[in-house]
Amino acid sequence: MNRLHGRVRGAPLPAPCNVNWHAVCSPAGQGDCDESFITGSQSGNWGAADMIYLDNASTTWPKPPEVLAAMTRFQEQNGANPGRGAYRMAMAASDQLRAVRAKITRLFDADAPERTILCLNCTDALNIAIKGVLREGDHVVTTAAEHNAVLRPLRAMADRGFVDVTWLDTDGRGYVDPQAVAQAITPSTRLVAVTHASNVTGSIQPIETIGRIVREHDALFLVDAAQTAGVVDVSVKQMNIDLLAAPGHKALLGPMGTGVLCVGERVDPSPWREGGTGGDSAHPVQPPEYPYILEAGTPNAIGFAGLGAALDVITPAETLAHEQRLLARLIDGLADTPGVAIAGDPDPTRRVGTLSLTIASMAVDEAGAVLDESFDIAVRAGLHCAPLMHKLLGTFPAGTVRVSPGRYTTVEEIDRTVEAINKLATA
Ligand code: ALA
Repeated sequence: MNRLHGRVRGAPLPAPCNVNWHAVCSPAGQGDCDESFITGSQSGNWGAADMIYLDNASTTWPKPPEVLAAMTRFQEQNGANPGRGAYRMAMAASDQLRAVRAKITRLFDADAPERTILCLNCTDALNIAIKGVLREGDHVVTTAAEHNAVLRPLRAMADRGFVDVTWLDTDGRGYVDPQAVAQAITPSTRLVAVTHASNVTGSIQPIETIGRIVREHDALFLVDAAQTAGVVDVSVKQMNIDLLAAPGHKALLGPMGTGVLCVGERVDPSPWREGGTGGDSAHPVQPPEYPYILEAGTPNAIGFAGLGAALDVITPAETLAHEQRLLARLIDGLADTPGVAIAGDPDPTRRVGTLSLTIASMAVDEAGAVLDESFDIAVRAGLHCAPLMHKLLGTFPAGTVRVSPGRYTTVEEIDRTVEAINKLATA
């Protein structure tokens, strides 16, 4: 019998239980949850008693127990440096990384496992792509919906006159217009960089349409899947994506310190991080073979052990549907609350599980602090590293209160959040 934090695998899920830090969930007398698709995991509240975690757009929490178990298992039973040695333990560590590459490649319908680069996080993956691909004099098209992980490297390159960047506005609900992308592309455009979903409005961009346009113009297409990997289907081939960057620690449910970059066959980014790869040590420069050309230094093997396990338990379509149901409940629950303005598309089916709002009677950072300290609700308040999006939404410089439910968020937690926001707005 397989017990997972006090719950028998396959038994009805307990409702969220009030537990102390590190305590376990007890199935006794807790009632049922409707998140029946969650198997082998908990839907409960694992944090401080009664705490509601609604910052899954930053990083998902909690992680499935399978992830924690795989990390512990790796460190206890292996723990060698992958590829840095021909002994069996090191080879086994390498095999584990290879298995993760293969799973990621399958998940994203990408070109080849060896072209799936294991990175530190999504920002690292985006930097490898942007800095590895752009040459002096290139033109880049990007959007106001981007995260600083894209905005800052491009701004720095543009400021020193290395590249020319066109920044496209989104519409008022946070969507990028594919025709605007088509019109912005010039003969010098080497790269089009677009986020798959805004981390402020949650708006899912028409990536497939944009990908078709970018390919027709023979430019390269970089997609930031920070908010979609693990919830929205991504097919690198069907969407004509040349470079796909994703974090391992958000909806893919892996640990922090993991990210991936899928590199398509049409592009070979130059390495901007160089060093040891575990083999070919006599080679005076970075070896040209994938993945080593873009991976240098000891990888986060324990983190990727966790991500490998996470990839076996994620249920993207069900999780997205669950999050969208919760968003619908949140939007409905706040519809009549005076002074509450919700940013982006009111249609929850066109967004990932992220909702930004402002409360007229209270400053954004104060609302975040009060939700935390008085209501035990963890949300992110501010600009969410996406300043241009806020400028378009009219929420710059204070930003928004961002509520981002995840796979383990329950209906009851959303109802308590609606109640809390109502109290703040009407106090
Ligand atoms: N990029 C993460 C967020 O949107 C950290 O919060």
